Amino acid sequence: MLSTVELASGLKGSGLLYNHVCSSLSDLDMEMVRSVPPGGNWKDIPLETVRKSSRLTQIRASGGRTTYYGRLRGDHPSYTVNTYYNRPGNGTFIHPDQDRLISHREAARLQSFPDEYRFFGSAASMRKQIGNAVPPLMARAIGETIKAGLAVDLFAGAGGISEGLSQAGHRVVLASDINTSMCKTLKHNHSDASVVQADIADEVQYESLKQSIEGVLGGRTLRIVTGGPPCQGFSTAGKRDPADMRNSLIVPMLEIVSEFMPDYAVIENVPGMRHMQNGKVLRKTIEFLESFGYSCHCFQLNAEQYGVPQRRRRLVVLANRTGRKLESPLPSFSSVTRGRQREDARMTSAAYPPPINVSEAISDLPMIPSGGGSEECTYENYWLNSDYQRLLRGLLKMDEFLRRRGRLN
Ligand SMILES: C[S@@+](CC[C@H](N)C(=O)[O-])C[C@H]1O[C@@H](n2cnc3c(N)ncnc32)[C@H](O)[C@@H]1O
Repeated sequence: MLSTVELASGLKGSGLLYNHVCSSLSDLDMEMVRSVPPGGNWKDIPLETVRKSSRLTQIRASGGRTTYYGRLRGDHPSYTVNTYYNRPGNGTFIHPDQDRLISHREAARLQSFPDEYRFFGSAASMRKQIGNAVPPLMARAIGETIKAGLAVDLFAGAGGISEGLSQAGHRVVLASDINTSMCKTLKHNHSDASVVQADIADEVQYESLKQSIEGVLGGRTLRIVTGGPPCQGFSTAGKRDPADMRNSLIVPMLEIVSEFMPDYAVIENVPGMRHMQNGKVLRKTIEFLESFGYSCHCFQLNAEQYGVPQRRRRLVVLANRTGRKLESPLPSFSSVTRGRQREDARMTSAAYPPPINVSEAISDLPMIPSGGGSEECTYENYWLNSDYQRLLRGLLKMDEFLRRRGRLN
């Protein structure tokens, strides 16, 4: 329960809200969206509407994923936020109680980005930045298992990992990405970090990136090199690497690790990395790190167990050369399993509080029309109606958030 003083301080004042803009829908998409109830999907769309769409007709005939044309429900975490939240047919992105798609800000809330985190670039770029990010609260949990120090974030994107590591007390001294808009977002939100736009696969840019890292470190110890390289697998031909891992973007990242020998390397990827090329990608990555004296621990994390209001699974390779035991971060919330039917979704452990749900994540955000919203508007603190919202508005500290939810590791 909030004390009167806390309640009062939560109610007073206003701030800014960024990127609360959603994509427009065609008339036909709108007809579909209107017929889907919270927690529903394409199966709820009436036949007369289905007949107007060849895609829906096909899905109906052959059976499509139950996430397609899904509408979020307030009392559950969301499904995985990907880069297509502008398309109702590609996931569960319909707002729980407004007839529209989720806005960038709502997607960012579901990814656990704080509200002060601002995204730049085209709508398509923002979807990539938000949909491809590691949820900051998940990265924070990983960062908290490591003694605070200096970090370098490669393939940094919008900076989900950088943000999580910073929240865990690390200092991100350099973040790099190939993409101009990603770098603009990084620079705005991590103004202390040196942001380097570089194609890590290009030998000249790779060399200059290495020099930049050397420059910002100025001889200081590097605690962490981290990154979530797009996973393409390893080609078996080429001349740059003797270990048969050529053409993969993970190789230059591993080379940077071997060059700077940070205490820790943290590699994040999709769970499917375990099976890429029959496990070779992961095996070679670990062999490479071990050949430089690192111990490795590979584990999968469920985002909802770390305070993220979303089902999202991620694979992490955590490596160190300090001799300290490597451990997966302790969860603070229950995970959610999905049964055969969407209604079968349930919490897996009574030992933990239930995960943050969609309503706690976004119910305070102002109503906007389909295709509307604004890049910057006023946020009134009296809109707040959950601790998660207070956390992301910067009005509640993480330990207090966990304590009030009934769990503090
Ligand atoms: C999965 S995203 C990273 C997300 C990020 N870790 C986060 O938490 O927000 C992968 C990033 O790799 C970048 N990238 C792809 N190819 C690259 C290259 N050749 N050099 C540098 N960055 C590259 C992309 O622009 C993209 O932002």
